[in-house]
Amino acid sequence: MTHSTPTLFPATFLWGGATAANQIEGAYNQGGKGLSVQDVMPRGIVGPRTDGPTPDNLKHEAIDFYHRYAEDIALFAEMGFGVYRFSIAWSRIFPRGDEAEPNEEGLAFYDRVLDELEKHGIEPLVTISHYETPLHLAETYDGWVSRDLIGFYERYASVLFARYGARVKYWLTFNEINSLLHAPFMSGGINTPKDQLAEKDLYQAMHHELVASASATRIARELAPSAQIGCMVLSMPIYPLTPSPEDAVAVMEADHANLVYGDVHTRGEYPGYFLRALREKSINLDITDEDRATLTNTVDFVSFSYYMSIAETSSTDRGTGEGNIMGGVPNPTLPASEWGWQIDPIGLRIVLNQFWDRWQKPLFIVENGLGARDELVEIDGVKTVVDDYRIAYLNDHLVQVGEALEDGVQILGYTSWGCIDIVSASTAQLSKRYGFIYVDRNDDGTGSLARYPKKSFHWYTEVIRTNGASLSR
Ligand code: BG6
Repeated sequence: MTHSTPTLFPATFLWGGATAANQIEGAYNQGGKGLSVQDVMPRGIVGPRTDGPTPDNLKHEAIDFYHRYAEDIALFAEMGFGVYRFSIAWSRIFPRGDEAEPNEEGLAFYDRVLDELEKHGIEPLVTISHYETPLHLAETYDGWVSRDLIGFYERYASVLFARYGARVKYWLTFNEINSLLHAPFMSGGINTPKDQLAEKDLYQAMHHELVASASATRIARELAPSAQIGCMVLSMPIYPLTPSPEDAVAVMEADHANLVYGDVHTRGEYPGYFLRALREKSINLDITDEDRATLTNTVDFVSFSYYMSIAETSSTDRGTGEGNIMGGVPNPTLPASEWGWQIDPIGLRIVLNQFWDRWQKPLFIVENGLGARDELVEIDGVKTVVDDYRIAYLNDHLVQVGEALEDGVQILGYTSWGCIDIVSASTAQLSKRYGFIYVDRNDDGTGSLARYPKKSFHWYTEVIRTNGASLSR
């Protein structure tokens, strides 16, 4: 059933956009910044990692937000953003990750970003770790496989809460924490190649991240009492390929593999289905009593990315679908983007309801959008992009957000992904664009870096101005 009258988004609803440091800042070796795993991933997760920085890595300059942040934030303000989600590059604050003292120049940069946001009345939403583990931690400790990472992350998070805690209300501990098993190097700084990695080490790394995340919540309660701490998961509703009970069980188990992260963050302990899975794999994790106590520090809200849904089957004849890090069985009823991500606005309503029913925590949609190729054109002497396809995608998803609000789901806000064009995480392309603002930079690194508002810029401005009333149903 679809609601026929325009939904009233709550007056407190936070509209905005989202980015991540490694995909936007550039200046990869300036301001005392150390290397992160992204500096050796010139082809994203689809290509091999390199031994060191290579000239073909678009993220090294990205869109030069490091120098142009004031201009970009002014454009966000022009759209009426109430919130801007960005990440702090861990290796700007701790260049190697295991130092005792932070890099003041890195901290000062984010002070300036926060100054600019404050000037425009935009609420910051900060991701502490977004796929940018310091490379030194990957090479020396094998990333999150090592328990030592918990301490390094605690020190990093403590510095952030102490420095920015009075200015930043909303924090996310790890971007898409449930991607760790799928993309161990990017998501967990795990240097050992995936095909040589013992499954036990992967699950141990997952446990270490979950403990670190809960520990950050505990530390925030002391150092930044007004902070609201959220976890962040990659959401992907899973449909049974057929109505058979076996397919329904396949969906339930695939769901469990994703939901365990939110379950631990909201309930403070591992669910039985996960312990069973470990037992059946004969994996004995190193979980201390202190870890168990730390996990009880549950989050204030749950945030998530949503791009697509997927299907699942018990059959071995599965076919493979492209997708946001995880992929799955293609759903024959849905269209797909140019990159093969299946487009499913209704899935967003489903996932909002599922998470709310399950966790009863306020939800924050912190990523959603369409990666597409854009063509810069000139209309009446003004350069722009006529991105009706992006407007349609966002409109249809936001209508479903309205439906979920009608369902009674508590939603804090919505930050559309890549609100300005950025380097893609999976393929490291600039031509996979999400933004309301076109950035003149190409996959070969050429371009002036000039910014041009697209048609969607004006459309989103109106959506925000009318608090959703201008959406077409
Ligand atoms: C999410 C990540 O998985 O998807 C972002 O949190 C990423 O970092 C986004 O950019 C879109 O993926 P892609 O590969 O199109 O950039």
